Amino acid sequence: MKGFVTSISGATVSVDIQGLQLYDRVYIGHARLSGEVVHLEKERTTVQVFEDTHGLSVGEPAEGTRAPLTVTLGPGLLGGIFDGLQRPLTTLHQQTGAFITSSGDIPPLDLQRQWQFSALKQPGETVTAGEIFGFVSEGHLQHPIFASQSGEVENISQGLVDLNRPLAILKDGQKLFGWQNSAVRRPRITGEKRPVTVPLITGQRCIDFLFPMIKGGVAIIPGGFGTGKTVLEQTIAKFADTDVVVYVGCGERGNEMAGLLREFGELRDSAGRPLLERIIVIANTSNMPVAARESSIFTAVTMAEYYRDMGLDVLFLADSLSRWAEALREISSSLEEIPGEEGYPTYLSSRLASFIERAGVVETQSGKTGSLSMILAVSPPGGDFSEPVTQACLRAAGAFYMLDTSLAHSRHFPAIHWGQSYSLFAKQGAEYFQREIDKNWTDLQHRCRDILQQEESLREVVEVIGMEGLQDQDRLLMHAAERVRRDFLSQNSFSEDAFSSPQQTAQLITGILEDYTRAVQRLKEGELLSEILKGEQDATG
Ligand SMILES: Nc1ncnc2c1ncn2[C@@H]1O[C@H](COP(=O)(O)OP(=O)(O)OP(=O)(O)O)[C@@H](O)[C@H]1O
Ligand SMILES: [Mg+2]
Repeated sequence: MKGFVTSISGATVSVDIQGLQLYDRVYIGHARLSGEVVHLEKERTTVQVFEDTHGLSVGEPAEGTRAPLTVTLGPGLLGGIFDGLQRPLTTLHQQTGAFITSSGDIPPLDLQRQWQFSALKQPGETVTAGEIFGFVSEGHLQHPIFASQSGEVENISQGLVDLNRPLAILKDGQKLFGWQNSAVRRPRITGEKRPVTVPLITGQRCIDFLFPMIKGGVAIIPGGFGTGKTVLEQTIAKFADTDVVVYVGCGERGNEMAGLLREFGELRDSAGRPLLERIIVIANTSNMPVAARESSIFTAVTMAEYYRDMGLDVLFLADSLSRWAEALREISSSLEEIPGEEGYPTYLSSRLASFIERAGVVETQSGKTGSLSMILAVSPPGGDFSEPVTQACLRAAGAFYMLDTSLAHSRHFPAIHWGQSYSLFAKQGAEYFQREIDKNWTDLQHRCRDILQQEESLREVVEVIGMEGLQDQDRLLMHAAERVRRDFLSQNSFSEDAFSSPQQTAQLITGILEDYTRAVQRLKEGELLSEILKGEQDATG
């Protein structure tokens, strides 16, 4: 479907092509810039262009595809770094330099790379669409290859293959490739959703112990400027006990993304494999076009779903969703839509929900269980949590890790506020940890919370009468609370302590609580407070 550009306003371009549908992909101008239909009127189709429109003029050709924005799914995504349109950034960089200009269509997968393929089918056997007909070895993964068509196999490869040629040919001439295309704005259809039951271990004591995250759940991390969102997201990316991590850097600083990749190349997981082998990075740094930023989370979540459909545990991390919402707002205002709260479009919540609802646990077609979990950072301007983006996220999230500016200022990291954060997965977490790690888990949790709460109310007293005015048992409590905060809840991401296994977490809190119980006992027996505290300090260094 061909036509011409009739008007241009920044990245918003009108074309005279008739018969297109919403979200169809359109190529604009001689440079074939890619874009998406975002608004339709009788005589006019509006396209949001994903690339820089400098130099584009009215009257240049435009071509509609009648197909939505898709991603290519197949072996070779792991370890890759892509932009919001799934163009591999390393290749793009070689072709166009650091600032993206038109690139044509660069294939997201390396089609020349050789893979070891093991076929599950033989000539003469039948295969049905969606069925796994073979595997390729990709790093630590046996990457299943799904059939796109049904029929009787006539020819099938075995051994070294590349993705350029079909891996199998059916009797009726249809070809089965090692990759498939999938529309990004629709959830990939899979089997039944299942309830969430297994905690996602982050290695962060404050999360795992007080506010557990669950596999298939959604958590948000709202935090003001410099409160540690990026460091927390990246630390979780390193240590979370999932098979695959999809990390979306959305409008964040480019050097932070570069740092993440460098670190992942050097770090190894417990089995000694480079962490890079399990991560896919989608980078839309602040200097990239807004439309590509808006689509980036959909591109990323579709890739995440692909791995979930193999029966794997996948974690989706975004930093930060606020930058994504700002992109949405910018696009909406260029379309002259009626703005809602704080200028965000009225469909902010529904657009957000349309990707958040893609999280969950599912039973795959082959009877395995796969999960897609999301941990999303939000950066409310001025640290004001009543703003629309935080509120919209809050409605959809099951866990809420609120980062506190004053904790961050006092260098308590992660700066998760224990009084204002929550997790709706606490019950599932407690059941699991109680069974698998420590039968006293819930009891420890209650005692820890109790100490923190009592400290909170004593603080007000201390403000009036000073520490010296407190009774001895209250001063012991303040001392125990300080240890809980300093030695247990805070964790420096740049030290050996960056990851704490649930066993270590349970041991550490047990030790602190036992010390406290012993100290209370000694006080009862008439020992002097100063002696007890001195002994404690000697013991803890
Ligand atoms: N878990 C941590 N351990 C040690 N230091 C930390 C931790 N989290 C944050 N920091 C310190 O705080 C600084 C700011 O953290 P970070 O960049 O993650 O904040 P942010 O919330 O992403 O900021 P911005 O709003 O600018 O994106 C870091 O450079 C680091 O020095
Ligand atoms: Mg940041």
